Amino acid sequence: MLLKRNFEFRLAAGNTAKSIFGGLHGIIRGILGQNPDFIKFASGGLEMKTLVVFFSLEGNTAYVADTIKEKTGADLLRLVPKKAYHDKGFAKFFWGGKSAVMAEKPELELYDVNLDNYERIVFGFPVWASNFTPPLRTFIEENREKIKDKQIAAFACQSGSGAEKAFVKLAKSIGIEKIEQTAIFIDPKARPGDAVNEKILNFCDSLM
Ligand SMILES: Cc1cc2nc3c(=O)[nH]c(=O)nc-3n(C[C@H](O)[C@H](O)[C@H](O)COP(=O)(O)O)c2cc1C
Repeated sequence: MLLKRNFEFRLAAGNTAKSIFGGLHGIIRGILGQNPDFIKFASGGLEMKTLVVFFSLEGNTAYVADTIKEKTGADLLRLVPKKAYHDKGFAKFFWGGKSAVMAEKPELELYDVNLDNYERIVFGFPVWASNFTPPLRTFIEENREKIKDKQIAAFACQSGSGAEKAFVKLAKSIGIEKIEQTAIFIDPKARPGDAVNEKILNFCDSLM
């Protein structure tokens, strides 16, 4: 009997130690930026419902959007134009550049989202000819009334420069003075690494 009690006590003590250790481990991983649940909890990310609306031709913007989702629990809406843009060679730059310069509003594949469910929208796009990409223009036009009540943030992917100008144009298109939280990434999927991941984490923090 005494032996059994002793065993039960040791078992309980062992489990308590395990859960304390598990908790500490989660916190340490959180501080190191490796535990999404801790980041969500610590940053309050679960409290403000956030939708990331993005377009990506070659996957860089999608890479950032996916990481934001993973780190904060935000929902994603990827915009897909009905007529796909060329994604190779001269045609890619010619037709994409023309579409951005002409501020086109390409028709989008049907998307299913209820914007009433969100308090914040994060726009993500590749910079095209120092502008934001046309599918976002279509989305803004189609949802103007609902977007104007939201908090707005944005991130851009580029290979050189132009993102700052693109943010100004995006703000103007939405009808706000300025986008407060922004981040710029240089071809993050093509050049992955700790620096990119840290920058994405910093952007996530700035949203909280
Ligand atoms: C049509 C077109 C125009 C572009 N214009 C610019 C530009 O003005 N400045 C820049 O730095 N990068 C420019 N880029 C490069 C992309 O912005 C960059 O590679 C981005 O990371 C691609 O994102 P994605 O993979 O999500 O499509 C352009 C790319 C294309 C296809």
